[in-house]
Amino acid sequence: MSMKDLHEYIDLLESRGQLARITAPVSRDLEITEITDRISKRADGTNKALIFENIHGSDMPVAINLFGSRQRMSWALGVEDLEELRDRLAALLDLRLPQGLGGVLDRGQDLLGVLRSIGLRPARVKNGPVQAVIVKEGASLDSLPVLKCWPDDGGRFITLPQVITRDPETGIRNVGMYRLQVLDDRRLLMHWQRHKGGAEHERVAREVSKAIIPAAVVLGGDPASMWCASAPLPPNIDEYLLAGWLRGRPVEFVECVSQPLEVPAEAEIVLEGFVDPNEHLPEGPFGDHTGYYTPVEPFPVFHLTAITRRTDPIYPTTIVGVPPMEDVWMGKATERLFLPLIRLFLPEVIDVCMPAEGIFHNLVLVSIRKRYPGHARKAIHGLWGLGLLMLAKCIIVFDDWVDVQDPGQAAWQGLGNVDWARDVVITQGPTDHLDHASYQHSFGGKIGIDATAKLPEEGYSRGWPKRIEMDPEVKAKIDAIWGQLGL
Ligand SMILES: Cc1cc2nc3c(=O)[nH]c(=O)nc-3n(C[C@H](O)[C@H](O)[C@H](O)COP(=O)(O)O)c2cc1C
Repeated sequence: MSMKDLHEYIDLLESRGQLARITAPVSRDLEITEITDRISKRADGTNKALIFENIHGSDMPVAINLFGSRQRMSWALGVEDLEELRDRLAALLDLRLPQGLGGVLDRGQDLLGVLRSIGLRPARVKNGPVQAVIVKEGASLDSLPVLKCWPDDGGRFITLPQVITRDPETGIRNVGMYRLQVLDDRRLLMHWQRHKGGAEHERVAREVSKAIIPAAVVLGGDPASMWCASAPLPPNIDEYLLAGWLRGRPVEFVECVSQPLEVPAEAEIVLEGFVDPNEHLPEGPFGDHTGYYTPVEPFPVFHLTAITRRTDPIYPTTIVGVPPMEDVWMGKATERLFLPLIRLFLPEVIDVCMPAEGIFHNLVLVSIRKRYPGHARKAIHGLWGLGLLMLAKCIIVFDDWVDVQDPGQAAWQGLGNVDWARDVVITQGPTDHLDHASYQHSFGGKIGIDATAKLPEEGYSRGWPKRIEMDPEVKAKIDAIWGQLGL
């Protein structure tokens, strides 16, 4: 199941009863949010992707909640269930990576090699549907049905983009999903947070005195490419390699018409332009995925130089706010796919869960195969050292048998197994840009909790109690007569 573009994905959702078209007139100011919020919080088959076809003041349909359930997120990435992705990537890594302790040190680099070696590098084509219409001089952002999401938002925000830039020194491409606030018909504010790839390009540009950073804001494309912009891959790995692997064929690129960049040929709309690394203006407030408004802060300005688009473009967007919403499922895909990558560096890890209520960075539940005293603490520190997991505020480590995907079991073990005076690591470190609880911006307290069974060498001398489990013979016997019990 490999989809060429957003239209094919929408056709697939429609044929499987997972898409609703709304023809009633609606406003892009708040009304689309209110409708989508109600739908995205449903946990049954009535949580559907939505296409708004009749928006006041715009001819362009708006697609939203495209990835807003486990099932749709799985289909978007070409599988029936997200667990298949984890298994596929684990098998690939097992096959290609050198084994043994020595290999572990180089695994970041090797992973890059693996992704490169699978022959799904982005490919260059001469033209593509995204350049069917090219507007340079008269290009205006007014032509897009950009939403105002929440009542106190500082303006309209593009929320589901692939923002493409290249490292000003190395030329390596980054794609990130960073919201953009509309300033006027030719300028946007680029909300790349300080820990992200785009922000690093901005810092490098200042260091090497580059006056501008060419940038492209891509809307739509095949669903794997759309999602890949949100994947926290290491900076030296092009996220479109991952999209190619997920699709089973390379993402095709065309050259931009006004910037020295390439963009996916099958996208819906591309906004070409540049960012001035020395020009910052106030961005926000914005109703964010924490469930709170993020305050006004300076972010760089994106200047539009051209808009290219299909003849019949659909404008893809999302809303974030009080969880659960669509982004929870985008994060779930990351959690599943990145598990084999975490295991490359921390082989003791069995499973990881970032529950929706934890907004990704607030809570990480991890099960490990504990082998030695202090192992849970080693895992906690190891996770804090891995990519964006550095931002995790609370990590709880469980024994291997605990199902961290089951909130009831995690609460039971996470509370019962902890001596709060001894089993806790409290430290300070980087916190998420959006974290409002830390007393300083981006720097604050973090907690690691060891909820594993304690060993004598860890100072626990009472003998860890035995878990209650039924005798297997009795279980088998009751299984055999269960049907006769009338229960
Ligand atoms: C719907 C959605 C919106 C997001 N908005 C932002 C944003 O405005 N700024 C930001 O820095 N990260 C945002 N993120 C998270 C980044 O996309 C994510 O951290 C990604 O790894 C960034 O790419 P990079 O690692 O190449 O910088 C968003 C993620 C999602 C799913």
